[in-house]
Amino acid sequence: MNKLVNLNEEFPLDSSLIYLNHAAVSPLPKRTVETLQLLIQEMMFQGAKNYPQWQLKENLLREQLRDLIHAPSSNDIALLKNTSEAISTVAYGLDWKKGENVVITDQEFPSNRIVWESLEKYGVITKKALISNIEEPEEALFQLVDEKTRLISVSAVQYASGLKMDLNKIGLFCKKHQILFCVDAIQHLGALQFDVQAIQADFVMADGHKWLLAPEGLALFYSTPQAREKLELKQYGWRSVENVGNYDVLEWQLPDSARKFECGSPNMIGIHALSSSLSLFLEIGLIEIEKKILENTHFLLNLLKQIPDIKIISPQQRERCSGIVTFKHDKKDNNLLFEQLKQHNIICAQRGGGIRFSPHFYTSKLQLEQAVEIIK
Ligand SMILES: Cc1ncc(COP(=O)(O)O)c(C=O)c1O
Repeated sequence: MNKLVNLNEEFPLDSSLIYLNHAAVSPLPKRTVETLQLLIQEMMFQGAKNYPQWQLKENLLREQLRDLIHAPSSNDIALLKNTSEAISTVAYGLDWKKGENVVITDQEFPSNRIVWESLEKYGVITKKALISNIEEPEEALFQLVDEKTRLISVSAVQYASGLKMDLNKIGLFCKKHQILFCVDAIQHLGALQFDVQAIQADFVMADGHKWLLAPEGLALFYSTPQAREKLELKQYGWRSVENVGNYDVLEWQLPDSARKFECGSPNMIGIHALSSSLSLFLEIGLIEIEKKILENTHFLLNLLKQIPDIKIISPQQRERCSGIVTFKHDKKDNNLLFEQLKQHNIICAQRGGGIRFSPHFYTSKLQLEQAVEIIK
């Protein structure tokens, strides 16, 4: 771990809590809160006097996001409201023909299902691959593909089970068959390393409030130049043009960059916060963060496996693991168990028919042991 980052200082969480809910909404690091405090003070005392500096922060954020996902250029990154808005930008931007289809899995979070299902009114079919308890979930996706398949859309990590998809394999298949590849990366970014060029994705989206430790309401939307050419814009505004800020010129054109998807005023507070949280990731290093997260996952899995009647729902093969560990008690009422955990201030979630623990890299092994003691 980077010695310059003091984790106790960065995460001064209430010591009575054991926070195992980063797959839901995460606590903010201290540096992010301090950035926000300074910004809102500035907004109160000086209004937008320093707006040019805020714009520099916005530029910096695009570069940080480029580095986070290893995108070729920050021009490929748009800042949208949330993951659902980004998926909708893809779904409603494509010129669908009746009878075409999208392939997803049956484990997707509703954002990556409902948007596609809503295209039914245009005669677009959403096919769902059954991927529970099978060794090669990607093959199940491929089997549903036919000559009418336009796009495959998957979560990089499934929200309930924590199953990590083999994105390289899906990307390769999509390129070979000229199918668009869309990745909801909200349960992956900030926990595991990600390389958008290696996986050959056309579109990637993720809000910042989970593993990226930022507030809700600001999402990254990556698109390749060729893929975004295929999207018709459904929202326009003063910021979706090439010459932003040149209000007197009546002619306008869309920029080539992904910024065309941002129609109006940016979420400056969200931009400052996400940039600050990302600085922590880039300082510590994504390799180190992934290592710590997977160490916690395997530690937790081992502890849980020692408890009689606990059934692990999450995959346990190393290459399928993420930051999520979901389990259930075969003999106890799991609602009751969840309530008991809550009473002991173990912050977690009920998902996928069980209880989901999602510790982050800074969560200590002692805290994991304490949480498992309650289950025992
Ligand atoms: C896989 C996945 N996608 C999307 C979301 C949330 O989407 P949005 O950013 O639109 O709120 C979640 C939240 O739990 C999720 O787990």
